[in-house]
Amino acid sequence: MPIIDLRSDTVTKPTPEMRRAMAEAEVGDDVFGDDPTVIALEERAAELLGKDAGLFVSSGAQGNLVSLMAHLARGQELIAGRQSHIVLDEAASHAVVVGASVRVMPERPDGTFDLAAVREAFRDPRDIHEPITGLVAIENANAHTMNQPLSVAYTQEIAAVARDGGVPLHIDGARFWNAVVALDADARELAGPAESVTFCLSKGLACPVGSVVVGSKDFIARARRARKLLGGGMRQVGVLAAPGLIALRDGPAGMIDRLADDHANARRLAETLAEMDGIVSAGDIAQPAPGRLDPARVATNFVLFKVKPDRAAFIDAMARRGVLVVAFPHGQIRAVTHYGVEAADIETTIQAAREALAEIAGVPPQPDPPAGNLAGAAA
Ligand SMILES: Cc1ncc(COP(=O)(O)O)c(C=O)c1O
Repeated sequence: MPIIDLRSDTVTKPTPEMRRAMAEAEVGDDVFGDDPTVIALEERAAELLGKDAGLFVSSGAQGNLVSLMAHLARGQELIAGRQSHIVLDEAASHAVVVGASVRVMPERPDGTFDLAAVREAFRDPRDIHEPITGLVAIENANAHTMNQPLSVAYTQEIAAVARDGGVPLHIDGARFWNAVVALDADARELAGPAESVTFCLSKGLACPVGSVVVGSKDFIARARRARKLLGGGMRQVGVLAAPGLIALRDGPAGMIDRLADDHANARRLAETLAEMDGIVSAGDIAQPAPGRLDPARVATNFVLFKVKPDRAAFIDAMARRGVLVVAFPHGQIRAVTHYGVEAADIETTIQAAREALAEIAGVPPQPDPPAGNLAGAAA
């Protein structure tokens, strides 16, 4: 039975062209700065986001961590979203490795913070009791609010708040390109207000490995040192960077423009799920209006929803029909569209959901598990 894997866009496999490019990549020792393919990828990423320099890293989590290390001194404090990946899903690396504390801001359903609350969250550097605020981080797109894209205007506003407080702004842009496409924004404008941006190649852009961090030359020099400290200095790593150069090409030759197809597929799935009895909205930041799932919330490639009567039984019934979805925090289920999932697969998924709901209709509901992330859901 063919499997339709909607657990995450991290399950994407490289295109045949990417595999060929990996085999044929020109390589060198990247710790010596000798790998031409890595250099080309870093330059291309920096150019696209309007920054001076880039750094190829192993993962989104490493990109965020080297950025925090480059921005923050030990004992400083970071302001970040309560449900952000940096706060929830990076094994507290801000504390363990950076030695920073975090002040969490509640996200609103559109993924933004209340700007007055962010201003309030800044510490008083004259008070010796308090840590010193050193960074504001936002997540764009914003995963827990159903991957809402944060606008250029908001990014400028939050950057101004950070600047007024004398600190830089970092964007965890694991799905930055989904935001760019959903907003029809200029990537340089969306990245412009931030001192650093991390984006992932290995999610919707379908590369097998890696993320890129961009920022000023000085920032990237500090991030490069941090990457080395973490054991992330890699050698003939052009074989991994080569697919990134394909993904970041302009137009249909690259992987950015096609994200619009994923967004359309997610919207179609949500519109149909919303009509089914048994599919309900979460009634929290992902789906603020309790009741029916609201397909208008689907701005990118995530569909977050709840089912009645029982989540585990639904996930299992879908899997037996060849459709994989995943448990997400707060009793939700997540379906993510991506490269390799076609419009026809969405119709198969819709049929599977109808059958699964009919099959589990009599199952006694189980209490939701604790709100933390379940295996795999964090991606
Ligand atoms: C918002 C966000 N940031 C960062 C990451 C980390 O990316 P990676 O899995 O490549 O470490 C992820 C995905 O897992 C994510 O969803």
